[in-house]
Amino acid sequence: MKILVAGATGAIGRPLIAQLLAQGHDVVALTRSPERAKALTEQGVEPAIADVFDADALIAAVVRAQPEVVIEQLTALPKTYTGESMSAAAALNTRIRKEGGANVLAAAQAAGVRRYLRQSIAFWGVPGTGLADEQTPLSLDASPAVAADARTVTEIERHLLETPNLEGIILRYGFFYGPGTWFAPDGDVAHQVRQQQFPIVGNGEGVWSWLHIEDAAIATVAATERGNPGIYLIAGDRPLEVRVWLPAFAQWLNAPPPPQISVADALRMSGADAVYYGTQMRGASNAKAKRELNFQPRPLEWMVDTAVARAS
Ligand SMILES: NC(=O)c1ccc[n+]([C@@H]2O[C@H](COP(=O)([O-])OP(=O)(O)OC[C@H]3O[C@@H](n4cnc5c(N)ncnc54)[C@H](OP(=O)(O)O)[C@@H]3O)[C@@H](O)[C@H]2O)c1
Repeated sequence: MKILVAGATGAIGRPLIAQLLAQGHDVVALTRSPERAKALTEQGVEPAIADVFDADALIAAVVRAQPEVVIEQLTALPKTYTGESMSAAAALNTRIRKEGGANVLAAAQAAGVRRYLRQSIAFWGVPGTGLADEQTPLSLDASPAVAADARTVTEIERHLLETPNLEGIILRYGFFYGPGTWFAPDGDVAHQVRQQQFPIVGNGEGVWSWLHIEDAAIATVAATERGNPGIYLIAGDRPLEVRVWLPAFAQWLNAPPPPQISVADALRMSGADAVYYGTQMRGASNAKAKRELNFQPRPLEWMVDTAVARAS
């Protein structure tokens, strides 16, 4: 199949392109950068140069490429994962999700694309008992920034799924880890953990669903080839509370144990979103992805070979 990837040069785009090529697909990669376009050509990928905020140039590029499928992986997230950096990036990230994403979708429709997949988020399921599934709505009552993002994402998901004459697939990914992510050994969170700047908040009851970036790419290719229109949660087998995964992550990095701070201190120092992620987040079930996409995620790498992990 001829597949156009928007966000092709980002953390998920890079392994996704490699997987698509390995499966024999013709890949078109959207980028704003002529230098990246050159590197993509050398990799065997057809580059399409356009900024997603330039709707006319984008339509021209997508119509020229004539893909059968579009995969949208756009973000404007920072390389660092702190309250400050996420707040600073929030406006542009929302704009790229809404306006950039809408432009890519319109360009795909203009080009007569059959199937459209887009990135979404697995870890904003409304709090409740057990794991969230594909029917679980996103948490519109969460902490302010999470609630605002959940509203944006809910609207975007609904718009895609209601678009006529297009097979829309939403991929709600868990927390990315692995090369090029915040949780790689050279990533920003690892750096914060080494500095003891990434604490357990309260009792550390927030449940995180993890996803290796290579598994994200493999699942995305499977959904592209044989997914059914609708939503898929793409996450690992073992959602874990912060009080379990964070000490194991620190030990795996040979870092000191993470500090623990009260909810009140976290609210004061880092705000309500830090409390949401640390104490309220709900894990996600991957049962549908396993059933329909034969998804087989690898075990979380730092839970395999640390003493903290073995004791948990
Ligand atoms: N579920 C998760 O946990 C999750 C999800 C997403 C991201 N993240 C984290 O966020 C960090 C950064 O994410 P990332 O890799 O997605 O960001 P990134 O490296 O900045 O990549 C963003 C992608 O979007 C494209 N893009 C951005 N603005 C564009 C525009 N105006 N027009 C066209 N293309 C545009 C970029 O293309 P060009 O620059 O080539 O034009 C690039 O391919 C990573 O550490 C990752 O772990 C986590």
